[in-house]
Amino acid sequence: MLNSANDDPTLIRVEQFPEHFLWGCSTSSYQIEGAAQEDGRGPSIWDEFCAQSGRILDGSSGAIACDHYHRWPEDLDLARDLGVKAYRFSVSWSRIFPEGRGRVEPRGLAFYDRLVDGILARGMEPWLTLYHWDLPQALQLQGGWKSRSTVDAFNAYADLLSKHLGSRVKHWITHNEPWCSCIMGYYEGVHAPGETNLQSALQACHHVLLSHGQATKIIRANVADAKIGITLSLHPIESETDSVADAAAKTRHDGIRNRWFLDPLYGRGYPQDTLLLLGRMTPLVFEGDMVDIATPTDFLGVNYYFPEVVKDAPSSLPFGVEVVETPGVERTGFGWQVAPEKMTELLMRIQADYAPKHIYLTENGSTYEDVVNDSGEIIDDQRKRYLARHLVAALESVKAGVNLRGYFVWSLLDNFEWAQGYLKRFGLTYIDYQTQRRILKESGKWYARFLKAEYQK
Ligand code: FCB
Repeated sequence: MLNSANDDPTLIRVEQFPEHFLWGCSTSSYQIEGAAQEDGRGPSIWDEFCAQSGRILDGSSGAIACDHYHRWPEDLDLARDLGVKAYRFSVSWSRIFPEGRGRVEPRGLAFYDRLVDGILARGMEPWLTLYHWDLPQALQLQGGWKSRSTVDAFNAYADLLSKHLGSRVKHWITHNEPWCSCIMGYYEGVHAPGETNLQSALQACHHVLLSHGQATKIIRANVADAKIGITLSLHPIESETDSVADAAAKTRHDGIRNRWFLDPLYGRGYPQDTLLLLGRMTPLVFEGDMVDIATPTDFLGVNYYFPEVVKDAPSSLPFGVEVVETPGVERTGFGWQVAPEKMTELLMRIQADYAPKHIYLTENGSTYEDVVNDSGEIIDDQRKRYLARHLVAALESVKAGVNLRGYFVWSLLDNFEWAQGYLKRFGLTYIDYQTQRRILKESGKWYARFLKAEYQK
């Protein structure tokens, strides 16, 4: 069966997966909600970042986005009709605490009450992410994640939300992709808050990891039967050639890209080789921090998009590594290499090196040029094949002994794709941003047929 699925991946069948394998789809607050100024929401760093000229490719922002704040019933219907059992979303921190800490905005809480009740009423499990990058701007003015006091603010937020929603929400993800929120936000400057200092990015990252560990304990105390984890963006890394220099570059890159997060979360502290390379840029770590960061979790969330090929480049700071664009490989509309088989390898490596209790693919998806045809349909065969091939790869990893328990497609809806604005569409559902009309794409129809085990062509 799998062989034929490899020839035509869309022949993969849901019955090939273990019985309780969890199927889902993912979204995030700033990317879909809109209603940026409604019901007392305070500004987040993304509102501020989008307001700066030249930051977002199409000059847009998430101020309206998919208007999910008002259209959530229709969106949850779409998710239910796909047949997913789990719906992953994130909470906008500044809807709950407009100033980041202190005063609570009841109308913000009420929105997530409605949303969670709506998810449950449609027979889905809510998977709640506390932080998908939209830090309250008020906290940024106090140093954002560079400041240790943001950890306390995050803990208070996790405490309030887990007390408020804990009887209904059992799956909690503390952070989404600290690499992106910290390295892209505080070092590369391409995401909010748009800063460019490696040392402070690593300090921010330390605080994010610390807040993950401390919040995990808080949620656990508030919700006895909670399943708690963190989601990382992880990448298979290869060297361009077999030379000793390129192989060493691969190790260095893997150190900062993957092990910098995985090692401390699984009790090994920061990787020694990376610390050595960082020298004075090493973050300030207080006694007890590494123990907190390694607080046991119930699962690891993995977001998989693409592998990276690197070469030794001594003049390229700070690690003497350059990421190279290998020619002739298949890529998505983002230029990201399509390599499902490498996802299998990545998962096997995580299983072997860290043995998380459970692993969930909390995001995987692709962007391509979507065209609405004369019949009003979007025949996105490339996305369908991308999805199917990654399902085949997920199944391969299960067969190879990876404790993979579920898969979430990124994303239910086209949405605000950060620095790319609305130019990149990742949805199973097309959004006409003029009218806010939703149209299920062919890939979405295929996922629904797959989940319902309906295989007629
Ligand atoms: C991930 C993000 C998600 C989305 C996808 C395409 O890194 O978590 O919000 O932007 O990439």
